[in-house]
Amino acid sequence: MPEVPFDAFRYAHERYHEIAWMCQNTNHLVPREAIEPALIEAVKDRRYPMYPLASGDPELIELLRHGLGTPTEFPPFLTGGGTEALYMLTRALLGPGDEMLASDPSYFIIHRFAELTGAKVRNLPIYRPPYRLTSERIQEAIGPKTKMILLIDPLNPLGSGYPREEVRAIAEIAHDRHLILLNDVTYRDFSEHHALATEFAPHDTIVVWSVSKNCGLAGMRIGGFVANPELEKQIVRFNTNDLGLNVLAQVAAKAAMKSRPQWIAQVRRQTRANGERVRDAVLQVPGATLPVFPSLANMFAIDIHETGVSPERLQKELLVRHGVFVRAGNYLSHEFGARFVRVSFSNPTSDIDRFVEAFPRAVTALRPAGPRAAG
Ligand SMILES: Cc1ncc(COP(=O)(O)O)c(C=O)c1O
Repeated sequence: MPEVPFDAFRYAHERYHEIAWMCQNTNHLVPREAIEPALIEAVKDRRYPMYPLASGDPELIELLRHGLGTPTEFPPFLTGGGTEALYMLTRALLGPGDEMLASDPSYFIIHRFAELTGAKVRNLPIYRPPYRLTSERIQEAIGPKTKMILLIDPLNPLGSGYPREEVRAIAEIAHDRHLILLNDVTYRDFSEHHALATEFAPHDTIVVWSVSKNCGLAGMRIGGFVANPELEKQIVRFNTNDLGLNVLAQVAAKAAMKSRPQWIAQVRRQTRANGERVRDAVLQVPGATLPVFPSLANMFAIDIHETGVSPERLQKELLVRHGVFVRAGNYLSHEFGARFVRVSFSNPTSDIDRFVEAFPRAVTALRPAGPRAAG
């Protein structure tokens, strides 16, 4: 009988109450009172037998626009998570012969969507300081086929982010070279001084946003994009939600966006403090390092190359023996994925306690004997 491969997500979902969920950059710190009463009310009010307003709840759209600070003439377009926006816009704007400039590591699902259109993705390796793209490298890499630049800020998986002047420089390049700047700002709210590229190149930038991470609503699947009306028209040709988005997801997003000023600073503070505890635990393990610290998002990569332990084995050991779910790097990097695991930490203190205890034990259990282990 062939061996059935281990499915980490299935294993974890079957036990989700017992698992410290540190594998998907999800946010477990938003107070329940911010969202649950509105959801319960909407269920009691039987908001679900009819379709929602196809264009989305106007109040939600205004709250999102205000939260992002994008121009009034460019209202956010709602999609089933940022993921759907990414699919639609790559489909609409890229094709065979086009090239998208991006990085490795990165959130490769976007690269895959671009490649589905027949376009090529050129990944600039960034696993070295400053662990992000720079305007100089982008300028050099642009060729005759370049059509789009992917700027994920802050960056999944490293937690690095772009200073305002760098965002400006990259936005100006996009504008001058007539390129589309895809500014994925999924983790924006975890960073205190984030700059949107729209500020510098409003007509050339498409912002992809989400409430999955900042508002702790990943399971609701709601996000979207903001683009100038011309680009928006092209993109929405690929909208499949002709009948609107999940009504409960909209209710939850509205409740979260309304109450966000009351809890976002505390979520950020707790996330930062958790990151420090995770760092302290990691740095006690010989051979384990953090390429980027502090993170401007709610995750970072832990480089375990020098420990001699493979990221996949560490992921499984932490999950099965300790109930701590982190992610092996290979789905986030072709070139460097065998070096790191990614951990996210917008989690309750009890999850961080478990990580702190489990990480050194798991590495010790897997560490090969020999010269590497001694070093
Ligand atoms: C950089 C980035 N963009 C987009 C997404 C998609 O988020 P969602 O579809 O939940 O809005 C993610 C999810 O992890 C992400 O890391």
